[in-house]
Amino acid sequence: MAVELSNLFDLTGKVAIVTGGAGSLGKAMALGLAKYGADIVVTGRTLTTLEETVKEISEMGRNSIAITADVTNQKDVVNLVKKTVEAFGRIDILVNGAGIARRYPAEEFPIEEFDKVFQFNVKGTFLCCQEVAKVMKEQGSGKIINVSSVRAFSGHPGGYAAYGTSKGAVNLLTKQLSTEWAKYKINVNAIAPTIFWTPLTQEVLEDEKLKNIFLSRIPMGRAAVTDDMVGSTVFFASPASDFITGQILYVDGGCTAG
Ligand SMILES: NC(=O)c1ccc[n+]([C@@H]2O[C@H](COP(=O)([O-])OP(=O)(O)OC[C@H]3O[C@@H](n4cnc5c(N)ncnc54)[C@H](O)[C@@H]3O)[C@@H](O)[C@H]2O)c1
Repeated sequence: MAVELSNLFDLTGKVAIVTGGAGSLGKAMALGLAKYGADIVVTGRTLTTLEETVKEISEMGRNSIAITADVTNQKDVVNLVKKTVEAFGRIDILVNGAGIARRYPAEEFPIEEFDKVFQFNVKGTFLCCQEVAKVMKEQGSGKIINVSSVRAFSGHPGGYAAYGTSKGAVNLLTKQLSTEWAKYKINVNAIAPTIFWTPLTQEVLEDEKLKNIFLSRIPMGRAAVTDDMVGSTVFFASPASDFITGQILYVDGGCTAG
């Protein structure tokens, strides 16, 4: 192993792109990577919200810039990667934190909403992986971290026909890309969390009955908090996971264990 065993989680000098970097999980993941030494390009659709994350990272002494991009728009993603390389010269880590959720009973699911979930969660993730991998291939190294969900593991009565299925696709995309890009020394893994208290899940957690269904399925008896994402993110971004690829890591308080 090329790295000192005592430095397995060191990200000093690494450059990361975090999509959805103004979102709850994206921001926590960006700050976590910065804490371990990485410089961060924070990306999302709205500059003002991204700038908050940039400010917090800069205050930690890391370099950080915001670049707006809609991950479903190929031109935006190409521009994001180009500007990142212009600013930092390389890309070591990609975190695909952008995503949306829509819930309806399956028999009434509006098809345009179904399409939208797949556009954002599957196509958006793929476009970012594809464009960043071109740079990582040239470098001969890179770490890609997709964000899946426990909803990719099993069904749920709460109306997840699009969301759960899209995250199932993210899991298989992760495995597929890991097999194709191992030869370029690009690791592709996914983190699949259980429910967090974020704007994305507000609707669920405000529904007492649904909230109780969720909590009753989590052996550790609580929803996740955003800091729960940091350990697995740093792990997959760092040399500690150099021989690990194509894996889905459930950060779920035991939810998928039984
Ligand atoms: N909150 C949870 O309980 C939970 C559980 C499991 C998985 N996840 C996943 O974690 C990820 C982040 O979720 P969150 O809870 O932080 O949600 P969030 O709504 O707080 O953040 C999502 C971010 O993605 C951005 N985004 C959405 N579409 C985009 C696009 N087309 N281009 C660029 N940016 C876009 C949003 O603007 C937002 O900043 C999602 O993939 C979600 O599916 C969340």
